[in-house]
Amino acid sequence: MQGISFAQQVTIDLGERSYPILIGSGLLDDPGAFEGSAAGTQALIVTNTTVAPLYAERLERVLARRHSQVRTLALPDGEEHKNWETLNLIFDALLSSGADRKTTLYALGGGVVGDMTGFSAACYMRGVPFVQVPTTLLAQVDSSVGGKTAVNHPLGKNMIGAFYQPQRVVCDLDVLKTLPPRELSAGLAEVIKYGPIADMEFFAWIENHIDALRECDTETMAYAVKRSCQIKADVVGTDERESGLRAILNFGHTFGHAIEAGMGYGAWLHGEGVGAGMVMAAELSRELGLVDAAFVQRLKTLIHRAGLPTRGATIDEADNAGRYLQLMRVDKKAEGGEIRFVVIDGPGRAAVRSAPDALVRSVIDRCCAA
Ligand code: NAD
Ligand code: GLY
Repeated sequence: MQGISFAQQVTIDLGERSYPILIGSGLLDDPGAFEGSAAGTQALIVTNTTVAPLYAERLERVLARRHSQVRTLALPDGEEHKNWETLNLIFDALLSSGADRKTTLYALGGGVVGDMTGFSAACYMRGVPFVQVPTTLLAQVDSSVGGKTAVNHPLGKNMIGAFYQPQRVVCDLDVLKTLPPRELSAGLAEVIKYGPIADMEFFAWIENHIDALRECDTETMAYAVKRSCQIKADVVGTDERESGLRAILNFGHTFGHAIEAGMGYGAWLHGEGVGAGMVMAAELSRELGLVDAAFVQRLKTLIHRAGLPTRGATIDEADNAGRYLQLMRVDKKAEGGEIRFVVIDGPGRAAVRSAPDALVRSVIDRCCAA
């Protein structure tokens, strides 16, 4: 690739649907970073009203070398817009511009834009190519990789969607510099997650580099994004459609999704829910005798140092634990109404377990107390 100041590559190994994740500096302006993906006549950049003024023009310029028509659609910004109504704006743009089967969609934004663009690419004409250009840390280390696409439903998060893999993922680390600190912290939740579930050496590395990560130091960030993507690539390469192993990537998410839905989408950031949710899931693991209190405290300390909440939200004054349980039953891991939690089965190893409601209630009460 020409002109890239530096780039590293991680591969998602899915046979003929394998694809590269490029991680580096200066990629947004480098035509080489987009080589290898479909080069139909038309391209639609799907972004949002916050990211468009920052980066859309640069992506348009670089894509003009691959596609003769490049359009940009800026969606309303926010988790509360991750729904059917907004999805239809993408279909409206595609149909009204006469987009054909070879039209490539480019998701330029965070996880909300990425999940919606991927889902619309899966549906439009039963599937058109798409490329992820993630611009948040959370999207670079998690949501742009692995092909989960979805929109929210008022009754449950990400409940309507499809598995649909991108043709490539282009992570330009430079764009993280404009992220608000709260969003950077939210992304760190998904980076931290990979430690307890898969790699405690990485966890120790994050502990040692948390300040540089919060300052968005490019070299430090490059390693965090690369290692996170490697771990995710291994899991997705083994279990693309979450028939088993892939569920471990949802550590902290069962509690976190309940917070997000219970507070109203957008009130807590996804990564914030995952931060507090990991503490709750670790506490549940301790109650089940799988980890000790020292491990829970170590995780809690790092989550706090990352700028994330370590306490769950009160989502119902009258029966908080009851409301969590109600929301957690609408979870893709639930089976026959039984909630299944990702627990830590010893540091660096995750498992999926159910737990008695009374025990879960006591964990929620303790972890949400003021
Ligand atoms: P987001 O997409 O809402 O982005 C966060 C905010 O940052 C938005 O306001 C956005 O406009 C802004 N932004 C994006 N890039 C920016 C930049 N470079 N500079 C300044 N501002 C920028 O949130 P997110 O945290 O990226 O993603 C959360 C979503 O991802 C949730 O909907 C979650 O369900 C989903 N998710 C999906 C997967 C998956 O596997 N598909 C995994 C994890 C999370
Ligand atoms: N973020 C969870 C997954 O991709 O499976």
